[in-house]
Amino acid sequence: MELIGRDKDVGSIRDFFEAAGVRGGALLLVGDAGLGKTAVLDEFAAMEAKNGTRVLRAAGVQFEADVNYSALNQLLFPLGDDMDSLSDAHRTALRCALGFEIGPPPDRLVVSNAAVL
Ligand SMILES: Nc1ncnc2c1ncn2[C@@H]1O[C@H](COP(=O)(O)OP(=O)(O)O)[C@@H](O)[C@H]1O
Ligand SMILES: [Mg+2]
Repeated sequence: MELIGRDKDVGSIRDFFEAAGVRGGALLLVGDAGLGKTAVLDEFAAMEAKNGTRVLRAAGVQFEADVNYSALNQLLFPLGDDMDSLSDAHRTALRCALGFEIGPPPDRLVVSNAAVL
């Protein structure tokens, strides 16, 4: 699909990500349904992926609202074996949080750090 008339919006998102790569951050796109929020994000993600950036995405859906770490699961699932490089404690915590391994509920701070590592 060709995105019409949204170069400025895609450029703004690129500027945000360039700065966020240094200082972190979060960007919230707000608008009525059908306004093109997903289309702009799709365009930006496709361009970045073409340039070699690893793009991880998750979508919030109501039926997963009560599922622990469901968004993290969506984000990290494509990384597969990359978790092997984590320390045992971080790998186990992350695999338990994501449901790949059975174990006691992991400490949230450990899961958080494992995800960043
Ligand atoms: N700028 C645009 N150029 C071309 N198609 C667009 C544009 N903005 C939205 N669309 C199309 O309109 C529909 C709704 O857009 P979508 O991104 O799903 O809206 P939102 O996520 O804001 O609800 C989609 O089919 C999308 O491809
Ligand atoms: Mg949408």
